[in-house]
Amino acid sequence: MSVAINEVSTEVALAPEHQVVLDEILNANKDRPGATMLVLTLVQERLGFVSPAMQTYIAKTLNVPLSHIYGVLTFYSSFRMSPIGRHKISICLGTACYVRGGPTLIDKFQQVLNVKMGETTPDNRFTLEICRCVGACSQAPVVMVDDDIIGQVKPQDVAKSLRKYE
Ligand code: FES
Repeated sequence: MSVAINEVSTEVALAPEHQVVLDEILNANKDRPGATMLVLTLVQERLGFVSPAMQTYIAKTLNVPLSHIYGVLTFYSSFRMSPIGRHKISICLGTACYVRGGPTLIDKFQQVLNVKMGETTPDNRFTLEICRCVGACSQAPVVMVDDDIIGQVKPQDVAKSLRKYE
């Protein structure tokens, strides 16, 4: 039996196109054992992220604490809470890259893009993430932009290295 999920109120605005997907997933799975994990996984698969507004809506509909939803999302690295940008920048923090300046590159990318790790720029162009060794240790420190490996990256080259991804 379908429930009137549309009547659940949320404090944060939920995009109508997202609510359609959430209602479909929630109606199909809300009574299943382990519904929270299943619903969050399906939302992540369908929409690519689970925003704070979506979290609130899912928590109210499943009648579980919002902290439980947040706990699941932060425990499993496969979940995202914001949409991913057109280009994903992954800064390697494997051992070789770490000792050859990886942390400094993190600071520089955050400064140049004006976002923190895990965030996406407001123009949806770049998402900044950390990754582990990508097998190019001899070129450390290494940054990946999408599938491109950029080696021996210097902080002063960060802005220039992103120009081709305009
Ligand atoms: S540690 Fe960065 S590529 Fe291996």
